[in-house]
Amino acid sequence: MIATGTPKKPLDALKLGLVDATVAADDLQDAAIDLVKKCISGELDWKAKREEKLVPVKLNQLEQAMAFNSAKGMIFAKANPKQYPAPALAIAAMEKHVNLPRDKAIEVEAAGFAKAAKTPQAESLVGLFLSDQLVKKLAKQHSKKAHEINEAAVLGAGIMGGGIAYQAASKGLPIIMKDIKSEQLDLGMGEASKLLGKMVDRGKMTPTKMGETLSRIRPTLNYGDFAETDIVIEAVVENPNVKRAVLKEVEGLVKDDCILASNTSTISITFLAEALERPENFVGMHFFNPVHRMPLVEVIRGEKSSEEAIATTVALASKMGKVPVVVNDCPGFLVNRVLFPYFGAFDLLLKQGADFAHVDKVMEKFGWPMGPAYLIDVVGLDTGVHGAEVMAEGFPDRMKPDYKGAIELLYENKRLGQKNGVGFYKYEMDKRGKPKKVADEATYELLKTTTDSDKQTFEDQAIIDRTMLAFCNETVRC
Ligand SMILES: NC(=O)c1ccc[n+]([C@@H]2O[C@H](COP(=O)([O-])OP(=O)(O)OC[C@H]3O[C@@H](n4cnc5c(N)ncnc54)[C@H](O)[C@@H]3O)[C@@H](O)[C@H]2O)c1
Repeated sequence: MIATGTPKKPLDALKLGLVDATVAADDLQDAAIDLVKKCISGELDWKAKREEKLVPVKLNQLEQAMAFNSAKGMIFAKANPKQYPAPALAIAAMEKHVNLPRDKAIEVEAAGFAKAAKTPQAESLVGLFLSDQLVKKLAKQHSKKAHEINEAAVLGAGIMGGGIAYQAASKGLPIIMKDIKSEQLDLGMGEASKLLGKMVDRGKMTPTKMGETLSRIRPTLNYGDFAETDIVIEAVVENPNVKRAVLKEVEGLVKDDCILASNTSTISITFLAEALERPENFVGMHFFNPVHRMPLVEVIRGEKSSEEAIATTVALASKMGKVPVVVNDCPGFLVNRVLFPYFGAFDLLLKQGADFAHVDKVMEKFGWPMGPAYLIDVVGLDTGVHGAEVMAEGFPDRMKPDYKGAIELLYENKRLGQKNGVGFYKYEMDKRGKPKKVADEATYELLKTTTDSDKQTFEDQAIIDRTMLAFCNETVRC
């Protein structure tokens, strides 16, 4: 618990013995008075309870060694102490003061804390916290200029459109979901029901609430109700001509001050705006997949986007429970712009002889939830290749490789990742019906054709440096 710093719910804390009792908020005063009375009468021996905390821990040498060794094994496997010094310092402090009385133990702990608080990691984590606060503050400031949003609409009921509709509805916002295919509408509604059903199963939502949420999504094949909507989010296929035609069409059907937002990943907002009569009402609103899980939303400012349009979209993202960041209209916007140099560095490592599964392991230990090969498998190699092309065109000086990389090669060999069961890894369904990655010899055979003949080996730190520096340098440029 100390190593992760994860907060615990009261009942869990009770089970763990962290607290002696819990009471409902309404009963707090009565329970407190009752407790004091029990202490006064002697029914509760509070001095004995306190004494336990003033004396050394009651574990013999062997038990202590076992406890610390297993804790270290568990924690260091997840958090390399060089990278994350605080958990290691916390264990070291406990090991040092476990046999001391509390007054002395506190001194050891204070010295350990001072050390942990002065590491570059601590400084970065504090920076991260403050930046997070700043982003939220900026979102609030934007929201002052926002139009009211009482109803939204989404065009496209695919992976993203369905996710956006679900997210809006689950935060209380009525939303129209339009597609050109009724089976897509069924799929979108099915996905929303599945997500809500899971919440009901876990006791986090009542069936009535689930019904209410679902009824906020209005699936449709026509533009019947669009005259009333305050904002339309376009999430149709990633094709500039289709998007421009769809946006132009919907602009003619909505009220004059309705905001139009595109969820495009790779097309310029300024370019899409050229098709519109009121480009000032148009912005980018880039959600990430899966929408209900990913907190960030990029709000993209096109050349002609008005402050009101930006503000309204920011307010909508906040209302949907997301963290909006306003970014400029450039290839990759913010997230993909810093991510693709990382993929590029990964590709170059593979070309020079690194093993992708090893790179994944190193980067996962470094701190990413998944390594680059696994990530590209989840995103889809088709999406990855398309993104890389857009980035190469946008930033040819540094994102246009002069060789064919592993990602492109696998894509050409119809290995699209998780979506078709083969990418860098092979995917098999586990007992719960979830795709599980396994090694695939065929990938290694294929990669031989793009790997340099004078294969190099790389230290773990070199792998981290080469991928993360590419990422960091682009971040600095942004
Ligand atoms: N999938 C992702 O990981 C992801 C992430 C971020 C952004 N995006 C972007 O979101 C957009 C949608 O992507 P997706 O993955 O949901 O695609 P998808 O293929 O799953 O869904 C697209 C949907 O649009 C519908 N459609 C096509 N023409 C239409 C029209 N004229 N009117 C209404 N609906 C129409 C299709 O029937 C389909 O249901 C794309 O611009 C994509 O780049 C995707």
